Amino acid sequence: MAKNTTKEYDKGLNGTIFDIKHQRTFCLIKPDGVMRGLIGEIIGRIEKSGLKIVAAKMLVPDEELIKAHYPTSDEKWIARLGTKAKSGLEGLPLTATEVYGTDNDSELGQNVVSALIQYMQSGPVFAMVVEGLQAIEMVRKLAGHTLPFKAEMGTIRGDFSVDNPVVANVEGRSIHNLFHASENQGEAEHEIKLWFGGEVICDYSLASDDIMYCKHY
Ligand code: CDP
Ligand code: MG
Repeated sequence: MAKNTTKEYDKGLNGTIFDIKHQRTFCLIKPDGVMRGLIGEIIGRIEKSGLKIVAAKMLVPDEELIKAHYPTSDEKWIARLGTKAKSGLEGLPLTATEVYGTDNDSELGQNVVSALIQYMQSGPVFAMVVEGLQAIEMVRKLAGHTLPFKAEMGTIRGDFSVDNPVVANVEGRSIHNLFHASENQGEAEHEIKLWFGGEVICDYSLASDDIMYCKHY
């Protein structure tokens, strides 16, 4: 739970309202986003939405950190990567076996994991902890769909990337989709601890808080 100064209106329902308004999530601008000079654009979108950046740093992650970051031993997640790769085939006159060399979701997913680990170490990343009202869901909405060609315009991935796993996997690389955001509470807690454990997470108020979600009249 965030440590912000609790105001009267935040004390409702045994602090549950406070927790909803001060939820924390982890997000990261991937190497392609940093190297394309999109840090300011992406941070600007987070800030303009009314969410607050409470920790940030830039680093080139090593293999150990990336393997700990993603659920690389979760068979369901790995198979889901394979399913997503296959969904890149929709509307194309190609089969999974032709493109990826296999039709098996787990095998396909495992190939994606290897490519993803390389991609995430390919340059600096800009990691952040973001706080605000339902921050986990909000930052996922700002990010857009995993596959850039499916991401809605108006989202980070939809506006600034066009990649498809079909094209990416032929080259044995991960799709380049600029941005990572925790999917749920469990991922958020794990990722914040992994990337910022033992570091200062700042506690401050935004000038816009009272206008955005308080009865100020
Ligand atoms: O990043 P997100 O939570 O939206 O998706 P994910 O399913 O957790 O996948 C993690 C990352 O793996 C994606 O953001 C892509 O960079 C990469 N990926 C890929 O390169 N090819 C796929 N078929 C699926 C995912
Ligand atoms: Mg994910």
